[in-house]
Amino acid sequence: MCGIVGYVGQRDAAPIIYQGLRNLEYRGYDSAGIAVQRNGTIDVRRAAGKLDNLEAVLREQPLSGHWGIGHTRWATHGNVNETNAHPHRDCKGDVVVIQNGIVENYLPIKARLREQGHEFRSETDTEVLPHLIEQHLADGAPGLFDAVRLMLDEIKGSHAIVTMRAQEPETLVAARLGNAGGVVIGYGDGEMFVASDQPAILQHTRKLAFLEPGEMAVVTQNSVEYFKIDGTPIDKTPNVVAWDPISAAKGGYKHFMEKEIHEQPRSLTDTLRGRINVETGAVRLDGVPFTAEQMRAFKRLTIVACGTAWHAGLAGKYIFEELAGIPVDVDYGSEYRYRDPVVDPNSLVLAITQSGETVDTLEAMAEARRHGAKLAAIVNVVGSQADREADARIHVQAGPEIAVASTKVFTSMIVDQVLLAMALGQARGVLSRERSIELMEGLIHLPTQTGDILADDRQYDDLAATLYEATDMLYLGRGINYPTALEGALKIKEISYIHAEGCPAGEMKHGINALIDHSLPVVCIALQDRLHSKMLSNIEQVKAREGRVIALATEGDDEIAEKADQVIYLPPVDYLLSPVLATIPLQLLAYKVAVRRGADVDQPRNLAKSVTVE
Ligand code: G6P
Repeated sequence: MCGIVGYVGQRDAAPIIYQGLRNLEYRGYDSAGIAVQRNGTIDVRRAAGKLDNLEAVLREQPLSGHWGIGHTRWATHGNVNETNAHPHRDCKGDVVVIQNGIVENYLPIKARLREQGHEFRSETDTEVLPHLIEQHLADGAPGLFDAVRLMLDEIKGSHAIVTMRAQEPETLVAARLGNAGGVVIGYGDGEMFVASDQPAILQHTRKLAFLEPGEMAVVTQNSVEYFKIDGTPIDKTPNVVAWDPISAAKGGYKHFMEKEIHEQPRSLTDTLRGRINVETGAVRLDGVPFTAEQMRAFKRLTIVACGTAWHAGLAGKYIFEELAGIPVDVDYGSEYRYRDPVVDPNSLVLAITQSGETVDTLEAMAEARRHGAKLAAIVNVVGSQADREADARIHVQAGPEIAVASTKVFTSMIVDQVLLAMALGQARGVLSRERSIELMEGLIHLPTQTGDILADDRQYDDLAATLYEATDMLYLGRGINYPTALEGALKIKEISYIHAEGCPAGEMKHGINALIDHSLPVVCIALQDRLHSKMLSNIEQVKAREGRVIALATEGDDEIAEKADQVIYLPPVDYLLSPVLATIPLQLLAYKVAVRRGADVDQPRNLAKSVTVE
């Protein structure tokens, strides 16, 4: 995941920033850069690839100066180059910016800035930020702080941003908008630190303060001032955090699962970064070497996976059939490998696996290989066996997932399938440019929408208080949110040990109806989509049998509030992307219920993160 480190003090900044980036290395990245300020100029060093490459650049061209900023960036392989790495500069090289997040409206901003004479060096959304700051300074903003405030007013999305200006020595300006990731300020002795994540700076200080969404910090060597982005000063006192490697890794959350649920605005950003072009609708998947001709030749797609990854694959069926016009089967690895599957060289077999080491998925891949199929993998752990075995690979880019119950990787797996389906659909001539651009616009809003859903999780505490003593639960969905219902049921089973079933709502009448009575909580995914009226009638059927309905609905859907006992509202979203948003409340609910039941959330009984033995 993208990482941010900043330093203002008396020591040489570059080695401190470099070490901070190293501390975040385990998350993965594929380019990095550092900017340091000295005698009124800012020097930038950047390198694609491993941090060692940046170290080599720094050895050849050392940076000296006592304040600076650094960044590690996630992109895809081929698209990684020095030009696209952070920090980004304005035209004159006076302003440098690093950010985590996606500038959702960067295209119109870039067009406007170009008209005003700004020259862009990279393809990134981030580069509009220093140019916007430069423009506000030229238009009369008195300094960096005000120019950043004006810039923040114009951009859409969720961001963690740190900036520096050559004319304003010893000062870093940091800001947080939405929930794309945090900004932590570290208090040292005659020095101050800024980071996206605590582990980057914990070796220097445990005295930390955190920016909330909509807050800014002006950091100098001996002080820090906090503001709202409208310029109102605010008080903030640092806390001294306990430090042990585990709680540091949990980053202030009680459990890894909670942290990973809350990381989704960032993991979704990282999954998308470098892969989409909102201007043209083109998808860039550098690990997928298939030619357009090969993509057109596939007659069938078979998805093999286990557990949560299988649910992602089931959603994939709807995505690939609609966007790529290809028939899709979805199989459990453990079923596929022991069957005699009909598969041949015209088949594409897609393994979906977080760990890349699940034995049943690997054996299913081997079986497909024996029949001459082409193999693709959506895999989170780079270098794992599934990653190595596949002909084509899409790295999930969600960062390490520690909790046994998978959360952030599931939502990224849906996004990865949308990207692959778009690439296939475009090559096969069944996906229009207009629909591609529409989907991309939907994709770039997902991190912010996810952050908004996560921003206030109190309603889930209230819900959990009424649900934690349930013995059974039912999850209903239709279409692409039938797999979401299965995933919601799995989450609650895995970590709270409440028996739960997921069911396609159209199937209720063939058995499930017999289970419904006043004691059964029923979670109904009833977003405003092509199946909305069908789901409403399913909700009526549950109510007619006195079941208790907790509905997931689209903002503005008042009709549902009259029918359901409780409603959780979600922002409007493209049908094919809706599982990403609809899953998040179900993850939160499962988590809160499990915590109330006192369960071992991160390591549920009898389950393992990665099932590598039969
Ligand atoms: C185990 C884990 C699940 C995971 C499944 C598949 O059951 O507990 O969270 O979904 O394995 O794992 P994979 O690494 O192949 O995605």
